Amino acid sequence: MTEILAIGSYPDWDEKGFADLGARRLDTIDALDALSEGDRAAIRAVAFKGHHAFDGAKMDMLPGLGLIANFGVGFDAIDVAAARARGIKVTNTPDVLNDDVADLAVAMLINVSRNMRMGEDWVRSGTWAEKGDMPLNRKVSGGTCGILGLGRIGRDIADRLAAFKMEMHYYARTRKDTPAGWTYHADPVDLARAVDYLIVALVGGPDTEKLVSADMIAALGDDGILVNISRGSVVDEGALLDALENGRLRGAGLDVFRSEPRIDPRFRALDNVVLQPHQGSGTVETRKAMGQLQRDNVTAFLNGEALKTPVN
Ligand code: 8YV
Repeated sequence: MTEILAIGSYPDWDEKGFADLGARRLDTIDALDALSEGDRAAIRAVAFKGHHAFDGAKMDMLPGLGLIANFGVGFDAIDVAAARARGIKVTNTPDVLNDDVADLAVAMLINVSRNMRMGEDWVRSGTWAEKGDMPLNRKVSGGTCGILGLGRIGRDIADRLAAFKMEMHYYARTRKDTPAGWTYHADPVDLARAVDYLIVALVGGPDTEKLVSADMIAALGDDGILVNISRGSVVDEGALLDALENGRLRGAGLDVFRSEPRIDPRFRALDNVVLQPHQGSGTVETRKAMGQLQRDNVTAFLNGEALKTPVN
């Protein structure tokens, strides 16, 4: 009987990897009920992908479970406390996606600040000749940038933007070892007040829920630009939408949303935003590396070896 269950939607190369491991497949975690009690009891490792909750009740449906190997660095969908209480290990796929996520953050920042959506329409509409030059925009290089969460991805974003001659500020729970001249803020609102551009790179979950509050958005100010590549839960979306609709924030670049993929329709009506479908890690190269790391964790667990990237 198979000991591995792979949950989620995966591309062909991962499907092949799971087939080679003899894994059982389910498209969603809610389909667990479809397995017989005996099949569920045989499962020792789950390879999990998705943003639907993997809670204690679901874990209890798999009494032999010892590992949840998450596809993704963010594991906020998994109740890690519930896993710990049941002696279940959790792994994630850190580092291999840092470059892609950082690239997208920088791309969205420039895209919003230089209003590339308007620029594209200016050309594509065929009305450039009649309209003349498009309105001038805001310079990115040399500006003041705040990183909310200077973890591995936040640091890769900051390193890229430092090369854009930006003045770097950051918030993290503790002061980090950074190049000289980067300013630490112990309070997120102080960080927002100090910068023109704010990039959100925090982990999701209850500890960071709505950390980007109405106060923080107000502190960023009318000319501020917010970029979020972490989780929608980190931002008070109502406050963000109010500010964007009423000219109290210049713009936003968003790859993540609270209720994705069915996002608040108010976002779609805005001209001052760049909206992306949670594609931060979405390149073939990176997704292959993430899938491989996920399976390496599963194999290590079943062989009784040290996990590659443990969370708990
Ligand atoms: C997801 C992500 O893994 O790594 C993360 O935390 O958000 C993404 O890379 C991807 O959307 C697949 O669920």
